Amino acid sequence: MGIVLRGGKIVTSEKTYSSDVRIDGEKIVAIGSDIEVSGDEIVDVAGSYIIPGGIDTHTHFDLDNGATMTADSFATGTKAAIAGGTTTILDFATQSKGESLTDGLKVWHMKADNKSYSDYGFHMAITDWNDSVRDEMDVMINEGVSSFKMYMAYKNLKVEDDVIYEALKKSEEIGGIIGFHCENGEVIDELIKEAKESGHLSLKYHPLTRPAILEAEATSRLMKIAEVAKSKVYVVHLSCKESLEEVKKAEARGVDVVVESCPQYLLLDEEQYFADGFEGAKYVMSPPLREKSNNDILWKAISDGDIDTIGTDHCSFNFKGQKDLGKDDFSKIPNGGPGVEHRIKLLYTYGVCRDKITINQLVDVVSTKPAKVFGMYPQKGAIEIGSDADITVINPNIKDVIKAENQVQNVDYTPYEDFEVDCAISRVYLRGTEVVKDGKVISKSPTGQYVKRRQARGAK
Ligand code: URP
Ligand code: ZN
Ligand code: ZN
Repeated sequence: MGIVLRGGKIVTSEKTYSSDVRIDGEKIVAIGSDIEVSGDEIVDVAGSYIIPGGIDTHTHFDLDNGATMTADSFATGTKAAIAGGTTTILDFATQSKGESLTDGLKVWHMKADNKSYSDYGFHMAITDWNDSVRDEMDVMINEGVSSFKMYMAYKNLKVEDDVIYEALKKSEEIGGIIGFHCENGEVIDELIKEAKESGHLSLKYHPLTRPAILEAEATSRLMKIAEVAKSKVYVVHLSCKESLEEVKKAEARGVDVVVESCPQYLLLDEEQYFADGFEGAKYVMSPPLREKSNNDILWKAISDGDIDTIGTDHCSFNFKGQKDLGKDDFSKIPNGGPGVEHRIKLLYTYGVCRDKITINQLVDVVSTKPAKVFGMYPQKGAIEIGSDADITVINPNIKDVIKAENQVQNVDYTPYEDFEVDCAISRVYLRGTEVVKDGKVISKSPTGQYVKRRQARGAK
């Protein structure tokens, strides 16, 4: 017996059209009218949009940041993901210093396997480079990890320019792609030291020690290293105009750059840090929120096709008991915030309904382009015959208000508290199984599977 979603509007990155969709087992098997087979369950989705299940390119679940663990595990984080219409997440498996990539990957499988409610894959974050790690990048490709990550900031994670160059060359050779956290960590560390020596310990020194120019500098440097290495490159969580300009200059020179941004850089701004009190710690993340004018610049960049993917950088820490580790010293506030649950609703409301992007562009940045860039298309990211039946039904006739007390993600606040949303994620199917019904998660057990990804070429 199959399932027919009847009466909805299918939205792809290319077009919007009225059609029914039939699911059989884990796959989409028919699209059109009169596709019902005797015994099928008919689900009325009239008036709703049917989009490919979201893919969040950037989460950190069950992460130890050295001082504390993220509030969300794979179980709670992926449950929140499906509640928000995201059926696949890509998390960052991270190599510890002295460890092999293979061992790092094993650790992340132990964290995620049999515990995830959405499908999941891993980027491999390389923190300790040597010849054997270079060789292991091939092993990662065979394990279905076709993307990597390197940090240009954070003392314990960052790599030097020569390593970036070598890794980019290797990645290009094997059909991988490396995402970079672009901030000039060395200068930032100096600015933090100077601030602390001057007794400047309040949270406003978080943004003041991580200015946009140092994100742009790292972005510019990365673009030039990628150009010399003749490698495509992925920029994670781009936050500001200055970095965007560096990307555009590089693209004009022929560099193949894929750019990710996040809802927080589209919707929030640095004023959060400058209010009295410690509430602003909820927004401490890196890069920090920027000056307000950046919001519209980034929306326009999505609309112009200069931003390719929207991930969340979901890295949640509770306000009480975790963020307050930095009450007396901004540099000790755990970096990161929650977002996986609200990405699609926020983009729909503040992007599509406010005419900043089209609904097709929404589908592209939250699902289709991530699937293409990261070697999952058209298994994922598509409403096509033969694709996984990962389907999100958006009901545009329901209005709601985001409240932490109602959220699924396991954290005591949301940066989007009291944000109105003009839609509901009414139903979600994960490989053909209904996991969200009438806006509520109905999965009783974690049925998410590991997605073994191919190399992706020519995704742009
Ligand atoms: O503040 C953030 N973004 N924390 C998560 C780690 C990272 O830089 O992506
Ligand atoms: Zn980062
Ligand atoms: Zn991150």
